[in-house]
Amino acid sequence: MSRHGVRGAIALALAMALTSGAATSQSPPAPTTNDTRAAEAAKAFSSELRRTLGAAMAEGGPSAGVEVCHDEAPRIAERVSATHGVRLGRVGVRSRQPANRLEGWQKQTLDAWLASPPEGSPASWAPVASVDAASGGFHWAKAIETEAVCTVCHGPSVEAGLAGTIRRLYPDDPATGFEAGSLRGLIWVEVPADKAEVSRPSDARQAITMTPAQAAALRRQMRNHLERIEGTLLALGHDDASSAVALLAEGASGGGHAGAEDFRSALPDGWPRFARPMHVAMSQASEAAAAKDLPRTLRHVGEAISQCNACHATYRVEAREP
Ligand code: HEC
Ligand code: HEC
Repeated sequence: MSRHGVRGAIALALAMALTSGAATSQSPPAPTTNDTRAAEAAKAFSSELRRTLGAAMAEGGPSAGVEVCHDEAPRIAERVSATHGVRLGRVGVRSRQPANRLEGWQKQTLDAWLASPPEGSPASWAPVASVDAASGGFHWAKAIETEAVCTVCHGPSVEAGLAGTIRRLYPDDPATGFEAGSLRGLIWVEVPADKAEVSRPSDARQAITMTPAQAAALRRQMRNHLERIEGTLLALGHDDASSAVALLAEGASGGGHAGAEDFRSALPDGWPRFARPMHVAMSQASEAAAAKDLPRTLRHVGEAISQCNACHATYRVEAREP
């Protein structure tokens, strides 16, 4: 099959796979049982995602699909969550999107499935549901199976150009190597117990608890990061390599931590997963700027910013008095 033929076939398969769920995606949720409400929200999410992905791939091939999935998947999740009064998302057996690497009940459900898989193919497994003892919220999850079309982007061998696009957006992507028919992950839905929770915007990011002083220090350091990026781009735009080198080197070293309000003790183990590659990219950018290699400088600055975004998608700060 020609490249174009493959592309057309993928788009068609995705389009066909979505038609069954498409009709329900726009209708508002009727007052109904938690099970039905969760299932409807999940279906709305996956059919809108498939439609968006299918359209992007038909237009621009798998690389365009990756870009659109990167931009739109979280937005669709947020929109569907708000419409249906739930929180929802996806977790992979291995997740491409760092924000999808949840550690809570969703991960436990996946682990249980992996440890003793139900009969049949994952797509046929019954959804699991439970009521959370602490919050009284309703938890619902359905397995996601790797279909043949999914292996283009998640399979054992991903085409080189496409793999490059994936690496650019997800530098530490573990979400390949999935065979068709295997468990890819799950879609999860939480229906909150009280109405108050319903209107709260979805924020599935992991909370880092710290004192108000530590939170203020962290936010100050973050704003410094952003200011240095601004300064770097302006300096590069003015052909002022030496200022750019200095700012980037400062960013690479962490830019100094505030003494008494040190927040490092509050940071989770996963923090360096983003902080370290960001510092490395800044130091590479600094070297490239010193060599007056503008494209290489900008490429490494872009890599650094992608770590800013990946970390922001994963964590939020919650300030609490000790
Ligand atoms: C065009 C490439 C592409 C195709 C085809 C594709 N995916 Fe993905 N998939 C992605 C990208 C990119 C992400 C990360 C999205 C994000 O940043 O939120 C992702 C994320 C996921 C996730 C969430 C867990 C994670 O890794 O972050 C699941 C589950 C998933 N895909 C399942 C599937 C299934 C099932 C299919 C086939 C029906 C499929 N994908 C087809 C690109 C693709
Ligand atoms: C290792 C994780 C991590 C990295 C890397 C990171 N940040 Fe942050 N940043 C955070 C967290 C956590 C917050 C607080 C988010 C929240 O609570 O909503 C934050 C907040 C911010 C804020 C808001 C500050 C405020 O006053 O509220 C800005 C601006 C920001 N970051 C810029 C950046 C820039 C620019 C970079 C990259 C050069 C970057 N960050 C890299 C974790 C990170």
